[in-house]
Amino acid sequence: MSDNSSIVDRIMALKAERGAVILAHNYQLGEVQDIADFAGDSLELSRKAAETDAEVILFCGVHFMAETAKILSPEKTVLIPDLHAGCPMADMINAEQLREFKEQHPGLPVVAYVNTSAEVKAESTICCTSANAVRVVEAMDADAVLFVPDKSLGAYVASKTSKKVITWSGFCPTHHRILAQDVIRTKREHPEALVVAHPECAADVLALADAIESTSGMIRYVAASPAKEFIMCTERGILHRLKKDNPDKVFYNPGPLNICPNMKKITLEKVLWSLEDMKYEITLPQDVIEKARAAIEGMIAI
Ligand code: 13P
Ligand code: SF4
Repeated sequence: MSDNSSIVDRIMALKAERGAVILAHNYQLGEVQDIADFAGDSLELSRKAAETDAEVILFCGVHFMAETAKILSPEKTVLIPDLHAGCPMADMINAEQLREFKEQHPGLPVVAYVNTSAEVKAESTICCTSANAVRVVEAMDADAVLFVPDKSLGAYVASKTSKKVITWSGFCPTHHRILAQDVIRTKREHPEALVVAHPECAADVLALADAIESTSGMIRYVAASPAKEFIMCTERGILHRLKKDNPDKVFYNPGPLNICPNMKKITLEKVLWSLEDMKYEITLPQDVIEKARAAIEGMIAI
């Protein structure tokens, strides 16, 4: 028996006692994904958080994801095992900065990537995730939109729509550490491999991609593809599920740096402590919840 088994047993017993559901993002440590009731991308996790009838949602991901769960299920207790698991991209714009951005471009709808704080969502017209960003922008009743905070996802969306997309200058440090030269070198070493990229990657990496997908989109793409080898241009936590689902396929990282340190802050021990002490609870002001909820529900409806 591995050391983890006793922790896992205690987590499972407490989870039942607390009436909790465990949701995990696709970038979480493999052992954390394995104890989750559901692992998925941001869009799927928001849907699960909205649908669940569990009393407690234990969210294994970064802070904005747990906040999104709280906004969609405000009557539930939402816990995150480490309050310091943040998203540096989400921190690249705050509500005050967004208000100024709107003043510079009056009348335009604001599409906020879910990788934003609840306060920024509350100032936005609608949210999107990497799985639906193009559809959400297309659905806006305007020829131009403001897009925050990710300039890479914004540029990708702009390339897929006739609308003008005016982007904020945020970016994901983890995806921007994936360099085109490393992807080219990995492809040279494995010429049969398909390049699969997340739209948070820089434009020169996206230009090399055979497919551009959200994290769960990648899982579906790889499962459906007849190819046997893939270079995964995203956070390496995705490899856990890919290897499990596709034992006959081989996956390569495009270099050594595709790790999100914040996603890795959630460990099995912290999940256990979180259930033991019912910490750390996500709380938000009621007015922020109501305004942010309209933006997220608008997205879910699309
Ligand atoms: P997905 O919505 O594609 O899972 O991405 C979330 C994220 O934080 C990517 O860095
Ligand atoms: Fe934020 Fe990037 Fe980490 Fe996703 S991978 S949580 S966007 S820092």
